[in-house]
Amino acid sequence: MTAQNKIEIVMTGPLMAYAADQLRARFTVHELWKEENRPAALAAVKDRVRGVAGGGAHVRIDDALFDALPKLEIVSNFGVGYDNVDATAAGKRSILVTNTPDVLTDEVADLAIGLLLATVRQLPQVDRYLRAGKWLSGAYPLTTSLRKRKIGIVGLGRIGKAVAHRLEAFDVPIAYHGRSRQADVAYRYYPSLVEMAEDVDTLVSVAPGGDSTYHIINAEVLKALGPNGIVVNVGRGTVIDEQALIEALKSKTILSAGLDVFEDEPRVPAELIAMDHIVLLPHVGSASVHTREQMGQLLVDNLVSWFDGKGPLTPVAETPWTKA
Ligand code: NAP
Ligand code: 8YV
Repeated sequence: MTAQNKIEIVMTGPLMAYAADQLRARFTVHELWKEENRPAALAAVKDRVRGVAGGGAHVRIDDALFDALPKLEIVSNFGVGYDNVDATAAGKRSILVTNTPDVLTDEVADLAIGLLLATVRQLPQVDRYLRAGKWLSGAYPLTTSLRKRKIGIVGLGRIGKAVAHRLEAFDVPIAYHGRSRQADVAYRYYPSLVEMAEDVDTLVSVAPGGDSTYHIINAEVLKALGPNGIVVNVGRGTVIDEQALIEALKSKTILSAGLDVFEDEPRVPAELIAMDHIVLLPHVGSASVHTREQMGQLLVDNLVSWFDGKGPLTPVAETPWTKA
């Protein structure tokens, strides 16, 4: 395909070279985030752009972009979570949205287990203790334990199940909360998140963002979790009421937290940063070279498959696709 007849797409944010180079080889790519005057840049290409490559969880893709690109057919999102994309609005305009499920499931589940253990056994704090030379004056204080803990998973989807599968090896009881009971799952189901929090002492949230999960882990849930309570979040920051969490940590309503995601990324509240007993990660659940390449490949493959007339590979639920 020559440069003259290459299909044109917009990249909304930077993507790793592994994916961006493939996109440039196949498409004419307009790098929107580099433009100082984005409305003017979009207006210049509006009659030609047919695809969008979504550049990550923090780049909003909604009616404003759809209005600016009237020939848009597909948004290929980098990430399984697509709360950054207004998929319902896209569906109303017959614009397809795709995401990157499955290829990151194991990586994020591994990270969730690592974060849980790091939080329970205070691994970053212990590391800091040694580096500060404090071991020479005495042993690190004894920590809390995963032993005897009861785990409640919020959002038992692909990643939630992979977390649960790993936790089975740790011999801890597992329960879950979601909007519906899953027939093929033996773990105890709680339709009420507060009731689950009352019965467990450790919440691992792997729920997606968006309106339906906004602040479902709130002050009431944290109180129910209790003073031995630990909250781990690898889903989306908006699932937890961050101010309520800060209050619960300050007042020792719960014990600790391990957070990979935040409400207003990459900004993390100073109050959380000031707390030495919790563990904070900068949204790295899928952030290995291996897995980010898999995600990038799926983003590319969705666009290529669509423009080859073979349909999208992984459309989201709001924009289903059936072969004509
Ligand atoms: P998934 O298979 O769609 O699972 C999502 C789960 O959340 C489902 O079990 C669903 O169960 C539950 N859920 C949805 N809405 C809910 C609600 N209102 N209340 C309670 N539960 C609800 O998705 P996945 O592949 O496991 O990914 C999950 C999320 O992880 C993504 O959306 C993304 O936000 C996050 N993520 C984070 C990272 C990271 O780097 N930290 C990486 C990848 C993904 P029901 O339908 O029964 O409610
Ligand atoms: C990505 C994620 O890091 O897939 C998701 O939903 O949160 C992560 O895998 C993110 O989408 C890239 O910004």
